[in-house]
Amino acid sequence: MRAYRAKVVEPISLPDREERTANLEEAGYNVFNLDSDDVFVDLLTDSGTGTMSQDQWAAMMRGDEAYAGSDSFRRLRESVADVMGFENVVPAHQGRGAENVLYGVLVSEGDYVPNNTHFDTTRAHVVNNGGTPVDCPTDAAGDDPFQGNLDPEKVRELADDVGAENVPALVVTVTNNSMAGQPVSVENVREAREVADELDATFVVDACRFAENAYFVQQREEEFAESSVAAIAREQLSYADAVVMSGKKDALSNIGGFVGARDEDLFERAKQRGILFEGFSTYGGLAGRDLEAMAVGLREAVTPEYIESRVEQVRELGDLLRDVGVPIHTPTGGHAVYVDAEAYLPDIPPEEFPGQVLVGELYREGGVRAVELGEFAFPGEDRPQLVRLSLPRRSYFRDHLEHVAETFEKVSARRGELVGLEVVEEPPMKELRHFSARLEPVA
Ligand code: F0G
Repeated sequence: MRAYRAKVVEPISLPDREERTANLEEAGYNVFNLDSDDVFVDLLTDSGTGTMSQDQWAAMMRGDEAYAGSDSFRRLRESVADVMGFENVVPAHQGRGAENVLYGVLVSEGDYVPNNTHFDTTRAHVVNNGGTPVDCPTDAAGDDPFQGNLDPEKVRELADDVGAENVPALVVTVTNNSMAGQPVSVENVREAREVADELDATFVVDACRFAENAYFVQQREEEFAESSVAAIAREQLSYADAVVMSGKKDALSNIGGFVGARDEDLFERAKQRGILFEGFSTYGGLAGRDLEAMAVGLREAVTPEYIESRVEQVRELGDLLRDVGVPIHTPTGGHAVYVDAEAYLPDIPPEEFPGQVLVGELYREGGVRAVELGEFAFPGEDRPQLVRLSLPRRSYFRDHLEHVAETFEKVSARRGELVGLEVVEEPPMKELRHFSARLEPVA
């Protein structure tokens, strides 16, 4: 049961099928090119797309827009200390800004950075600083409650191969976005801490979805069955030397991010780099009101009223899709349902983008916008052909979820007639292809 009701509403509308088909063609079969006005249920991302609370909006009115020494920053710092246990905070405009600040300080030419699984922007910032990102996920089977975990043995093997002195940082991403939003156990973070100590590496937690992760820990890790989500979050982050955060996720805000650092020296270096790239150390590329929104959002994210309905709504969407025969990753993750597009459209080979075909048809049949995470987004990487349906926080109701399931049924009914896609126009950087490329159905 949701312990909130709507007070401000945003009208949405569903263009008719003919218009949707025209929009899809005009967008070059790439839903990043659609106008959001033409989208009915927008599940492109959970990042920055959620609904803020009345307390967040109220706090924004007292945003202190001072260049230096902003009171709003002080309130954010107090929240980060209370909720996440970090006293030293460097604000940034969003998660990748925080990554630029932290990895710019930690990583240099020739270094290796292990992570349970790198998110794209994390990977890019490690590479940008001359490092090599190495994914070290567990080989967890489907019934493992913590499929997002890091494999500490893989990290030790990497260090044996390249030399521990070339592994300056070890990262654990909670939840593991690139691994279907699956959680990481507290036990696993304790193991990661031990490995980091063995290697004398800085242990970083990418805490974007730390509250969702803590909820899973409460539900699944025996030691924490009686603990509050707030206490679990603090416990889990207490093992880290630094956190990198996108406020657009579990700070329930539309923009913002930060680095938290325990060590004074690391903090000082991050602060200097923050000034260079993000802005002075008490605003970090944000308006004072944005700092306020994060300060309040962080506290709300770990309340039982919020977090249970959040994660359970994602499960609800997964259940509805499973009931109509859609092959999804189970159990569902904390922020999104991941569909196996290869299993759903077995006649379309990966090089003809079955995931992107499905994304286009979800728009055509129901104005639903999802995102492809397969051959189109990651060319030549031989990844599974996934489609992600991410739920914005506190934004949609049960009937929207039912609409998504009904839309899948309509696509399923036409499955036999669907054909693959080919790229006809793409930007120079292949890593950024899926944001702007145009496609056409194969002849
Ligand atoms: N780390 C993780 C695990 C993320 O999921 C993201 C963003 C970032 C860092 C970067 O944060 O967007 O504020 O710069 N993920 C979004 C998504 C974009 O759709 O999954 P950001």
